[in-house]
Amino acid sequence: MVTVKSEKEIEYMRESCRIVKETLDFVGKNIRIGMTTKEVDELVYKYITSCGAYPSELGYEGYPASSCVSVNEVVVHGIPGDRILSDGDIVSVDITAEKNGFHGDACRTFLLGNVSEEKKKLVKITEECFFKAIEGLQAGVPLYNIGNAVQTHAESNGYGVVRALTGHGIGRSMHEDPAVPNYGKRGTGMRLRAGMTICIEPMIAMGTWKVYQDASDGWTVYTADGKPAAHYENTVLIKEDGVEILTL
Ligand code: MF3
Ligand code: CO
Ligand code: CO
Repeated sequence: MVTVKSEKEIEYMRESCRIVKETLDFVGKNIRIGMTTKEVDELVYKYITSCGAYPSELGYEGYPASSCVSVNEVVVHGIPGDRILSDGDIVSVDITAEKNGFHGDACRTFLLGNVSEEKKKLVKITEECFFKAIEGLQAGVPLYNIGNAVQTHAESNGYGVVRALTGHGIGRSMHEDPAVPNYGKRGTGMRLRAGMTICIEPMIAMGTWKVYQDASDGWTVYTADGKPAAHYENTVLIKEDGVEILTL
């Protein structure tokens, strides 16, 4: 069921999303080579709880941490642990925060030390995919225009668009309808309505779009060819005349 938020609900969304944004800024200032992914998760837990919010990934369908920390060939849902961050890594940190019953959700991919030109380009194009997707976005626009914009930009750069995971609506639940794929045909899908809040989250791979999930932990998603992937996400409010990026 697609939900349309009231003004009051949008105010709550803005607050949760502001906390998410600030947390990611805090992580960006503190993430270091030599840190473990678990230490990154501790930064996230500390910051979100200090804002009087809850890191709603923690316990979500049994997920054991406050963040997803996905390094290089890990696409998404990297469980924080003993992995040590190294020079040249690209590290996506995907977090959600819940306050007053509403969730915000965003992800940034951080560059550590001397990152290769090809990985830098992957991260840059992935961010650009998000901004291409919101160009002209407003109430009345067909949903799959979003995915089409992401797919066109990624594939024209020779990258793979991960299909196994999608963006989504968000609000009182972290994941609401509709699913927001990163591929699709222009002019198709439901028409967006003012007051919808959705997460647009390109997951782009340097090589193949194919991925697999770790059989032992049930979460970690890797690229099938072991090449790096990047992830960028914001929570976006659809308005009559455009969008408001709530996590920026
Ligand atoms: N934040 C992720 C998303 O963008 C969801 C993470 S699922 C969790 O949809 F289980 F890891 F929390
Ligand atoms: Co997310
Ligand atoms: Co999301």
